[in-house]
Amino acid sequence: MERLGLTDPQRTDRGTRLPPRIRDGCLGVPRTAPGDRRAIQQHHDRAECSELGGLVRTYDFASAATVVDVGGGHGRLLASILKTFPSVRGVLFDLPKVVEGAPALLAAAGVADRCEIVGGDLFGQLPPGFDTYLMSRVIHDWDDEQTVGILDRCRRVMKPEGRLLLVERVVVTGQQPDMQTMLSDLTMLVGTGGRERTDEEFRALLARAGLEITRLVPVLHGLHVIESVPTAEV
Ligand SMILES: C[S@@+](CC[C@H](N)C(=O)[O-])C[C@H]1O[C@@H](n2cnc3c(N)ncnc32)[C@H](O)[C@@H]1O
Repeated sequence: MERLGLTDPQRTDRGTRLPPRIRDGCLGVPRTAPGDRRAIQQHHDRAECSELGGLVRTYDFASAATVVDVGGGHGRLLASILKTFPSVRGVLFDLPKVVEGAPALLAAAGVADRCEIVGGDLFGQLPPGFDTYLMSRVIHDWDDEQTVGILDRCRRVMKPEGRLLLVERVVVTGQQPDMQTMLSDLTMLVGTGGRERTDEEFRALLARAGLEITRLVPVLHGLHVIESVPTAEV
């Protein structure tokens, strides 16, 4: 199976050919005593913060009336968007159990008055009638058929002139995937049955759901905003 170059022996050979950051300490995480997860968690938090910070600096959300963050967890990314763009309102959507953790985070960020919290299921009814739907690092958890279903449900509930923003690692045609993207691809394969994808794969999946890519905006570490709108004939 070919997954973003992971079967390339140049890339998968154990030992000396691996980049130092992998060979000598996973992705820059300092070596720690076995069982010490704290340094690893702190590393992930720092990486995530810089990616989220990179996103609000790179993509201009100012023209959005309301951003619906589907699979938005506790709302860390949405809070960051609402803080940076004071005219924008938000709807945070995730599993009911997950959004229980959101009010405290949104209140601490000072954006709770501009954000509605909705508990629900990606495979059920999404909040209808808004202009901007965002899914950050959600789609890579799902296989192609599930993905088309999710994208299609999103397209059906958005305003006709609305847009869908996917934030995902994208392997751009003609470019080599970076090591983080390949490792994430492997993690998705093992952990969720999902995968990282190329721009052409995203284009094809979005087209099946009646959406077309309008822009591909690089953020950080292979992460991109894939901006799409409903295709004219839908
Ligand atoms: C990888 S996390 C991404 C979180 C956040 N968007 C980010 O970029 O950090 C995937 C999110 O999808 C949510 N999720 C998974 N299955 C879901 C479902 N069936 N319905 C709603 N949300 C779901 C999880 O609870 C989780 O918050």
